[in-house]
Amino acid sequence: MSGIIVVGTQWGDEGKGKATDQLGGDVAMVVKFNGGNNAGHTVVVDGESYALHLLPAGILSPNAIPVIGAGVVVDPDALFGEIEAMEARGVDCSRLVVSADAHVIAPYNRSFDKLNEVALGAGLIGTTGRGIGPTYADKMNRTGLRIQDLLDEDVVRARVTQNIQSKLRGFDPEEIPAEFKADFDIDATVAALVAYGERLRPLIVDSSLIVNRALDAGQKVLFEAGQAAMLDIDHGTYPFVTSSTAIAAGALAGVGVGPTKIDRVIGVAKAYTTRVGSGPFPTELHGEAGDHLRELGGEYGVTTGRARRVGWLDLVVLRYANRINGLTDIALTKLDVLDSYETIPVAIGYEVDGVFTPEIPVFQSEFSRAVPVYKEMAGWNEDITGVRRFEDLPQAARDYVTFIEDEVGTRISTIGVGQARDAAIVR
Ligand code: IMP
Repeated sequence: MSGIIVVGTQWGDEGKGKATDQLGGDVAMVVKFNGGNNAGHTVVVDGESYALHLLPAGILSPNAIPVIGAGVVVDPDALFGEIEAMEARGVDCSRLVVSADAHVIAPYNRSFDKLNEVALGAGLIGTTGRGIGPTYADKMNRTGLRIQDLLDEDVVRARVTQNIQSKLRGFDPEEIPAEFKADFDIDATVAALVAYGERLRPLIVDSSLIVNRALDAGQKVLFEAGQAAMLDIDHGTYPFVTSSTAIAAGALAGVGVGPTKIDRVIGVAKAYTTRVGSGPFPTELHGEAGDHLRELGGEYGVTTGRARRVGWLDLVVLRYANRINGLTDIALTKLDVLDSYETIPVAIGYEVDGVFTPEIPVFQSEFSRAVPVYKEMAGWNEDITGVRRFEDLPQAARDYVTFIEDEVGTRISTIGVGQARDAAIVR
């Protein structure tokens, strides 16, 4: 037994891909269990930068089998596009396997996601527009298409017809922009999906069976979450969330493994906070202060290119993520981005209507008007990108790290100090 789950502790983009990649050298499998190509990881290996969306970070570790688990939603266009782009750069993708039970993002759901956001009032949630929400909705509605269903044209035709007809019911055909019309053509969609079924056939596996076999043989298996605690469908800032279980429990349900098979849960936390899309974000920085931190951190979406919202570290959020994930340790990322600050505010609690709370308020209306209570930490004001041992960090940087550990109650086992694969301090 050696299951390790890697999760995001904030609103995504904490650097999970890199954290997974760093652990990937001696793991047998890297398994994605939720979400789809709404995720975006940038991993830098030997000076080469790779943007991963649907492919597990394990694709870059030659000894690891990358697995797309049953809880993932797979857009075959995006999957084969990403495989071809990686292979063109010499990355071998032949080890990749996909669960027979993963659901398929059909073209109409991609268009429906975009149309929905517009129809409901421009960018209400601010989704990535990849069809994630509508595909999970079909899954729960029991009208979804699984990877294995693509192998049976009759099933594909029945579901596609049912889904397209029901989705179009909410729209005046005149309202649908020309660019989306082809995605609602039944015959073309069936033909495309059946063709993808044949391409997918050699990759299809029972993800629960192969992962459990590896765990039972004592091999190390990494479960890599997409998105993060605050975007989780049950525990995030609903409705400004993604549509899947992004916390550690999602790894169990999304692959088909039991909790007794897991011995480590690593929460990845950025040394400050970012968020893409709408919804509450108490420590958000606006104006010039926000622009400055965004530039320092290069905070632009890997998937959409959108400028991310940025703000100070929020320990209320980290404490919450620690609790709902049962973290064993934290991987702190991008500490070097804070190198040039004289002082660094860190939220230790909120004031809601004049009352202090160290926890996320029960009612989201209170969370939306929560005012962060900051502790001003001293900055270190020097370049730490070359540091590889904790003892060699400036005292103020060490204090920043130990303050987080004390407040959250979980140890920080790695600290990211730069983009490269080896730019990390392991404790
Ligand atoms: P969806 O996942 O495309 O449905 O988008 C729902 C919300 O989750 C939006 O606010 C997105 O910006 C956010 N989101 C989805 N995936 C990611 C991610 O990988 N990083 C950050 N935000 C994400």
